[in-house]
Amino acid sequence: MDFYKSKILGTGIYAPKKILTNKELESIVETSDEWIFERTGIRERRICSTEGGEWPTDMALYATRDALVEAKLTPNDIDLILFASVTPDVPLPNSASILQTKLGITNECGCLDISAACSGFVYGLNMANAMIQTGFLKNVLIVASEMLSREVDWKDRSSCILFGDGCGVAILGRNESNDGSQILSSNIHADGTGKEFFYQPYGRAVAPLTTQMIEEGSHYMKMKGKEMFKVATRTLAKNAKDALDKVHVSINDVNWIIPHQANVRIIETACKILGLNNLDNVIINIERWGNTSAATIPLAFHEAVKDGRIKRGDLVLFDTFGAGLTSGATLLRY
Ligand code: UT7
Repeated sequence: MDFYKSKILGTGIYAPKKILTNKELESIVETSDEWIFERTGIRERRICSTEGGEWPTDMALYATRDALVEAKLTPNDIDLILFASVTPDVPLPNSASILQTKLGITNECGCLDISAACSGFVYGLNMANAMIQTGFLKNVLIVASEMLSREVDWKDRSSCILFGDGCGVAILGRNESNDGSQILSSNIHADGTGKEFFYQPYGRAVAPLTTQMIEEGSHYMKMKGKEMFKVATRTLAKNAKDALDKVHVSINDVNWIIPHQANVRIIETACKILGLNNLDNVIINIERWGNTSAATIPLAFHEAVKDGRIKRGDLVLFDTFGAGLTSGATLLRY
């Protein structure tokens, strides 16, 4: 069997135009800018338009156009679209197929949605890598696009202050030049026993939406913040360590760590468990974005590449967790 290396050929992001600040949230729920910033590290988040033009697949379209330019590829060079989202445009068809049409792809490439909550991008990246390594596919578009503002309960101050909308994409392709870029180590996990720490119990097969649910707001996302916090810190540290140990790399040799951006205190605690003395090499952008679920890691990665912090050849560690309780890590040489 052939064995290829894969490389991130291009990235793109989309930021919805509307910015919702903590100060503005003060008029929606009983909260304060001070509380939110101190407890989470968030100052503002983006919110998609409900008038159209910023649906998850629209954001993905804009972000993918930029990624294709950077990768020097055309839409028909994409062999598979993996679309990670907990807020797809519609239940059917999948968002990947909708995006395929929007991109004008005519090669009938495979289209698959990934439902792995905040871990969706890392799941997708690791799946794409496996398919590229074996020679099955050459170029995979991995999308993480979220419109969480539709699914949060704007009356629940313990959760609505956390989330934001946005999109990040990456094109993972076969490394033809063999220049050292590659995915070195990866893992994906889930622990279904914690499913009630973060869930949305109504609205599908088990309990289809009723007007009563809508009136009561019981169909929105529900989170046990403290339980999630504890699992998150432990899981982030464990998966990062496993990914590093597998290839005998020390955390101190990693140039950049990009953790899922759910709460700056989660990031600080996980990094402490990992033995980091400071956060100098940790990319944190939660202040401007909030938690955009699957999109946090590709958004942070793209920003750090574009502002020159992350350079080709750097060792980069992605580390994620989310509802499910899904989690995973990827160590790559960019
Ligand atoms: O992407 C993965 C999913 N998300 C996560 O993993 C999130 C993980 N959890 C967290 O980030 C934190 O647990 C939260 C930010 C959600 C909550 O922070 P906390 O430090 O655990 O606060 P808490 O729930 O213990 O609440 C402390 C107090 C409570 O008041 P009392 O009972 O002490 O009087 C809350 O009612 O803060 C109150 N509170 C707020 N006050 C002002 C909760 N939310 C707010 C708010 N503004 N928005």
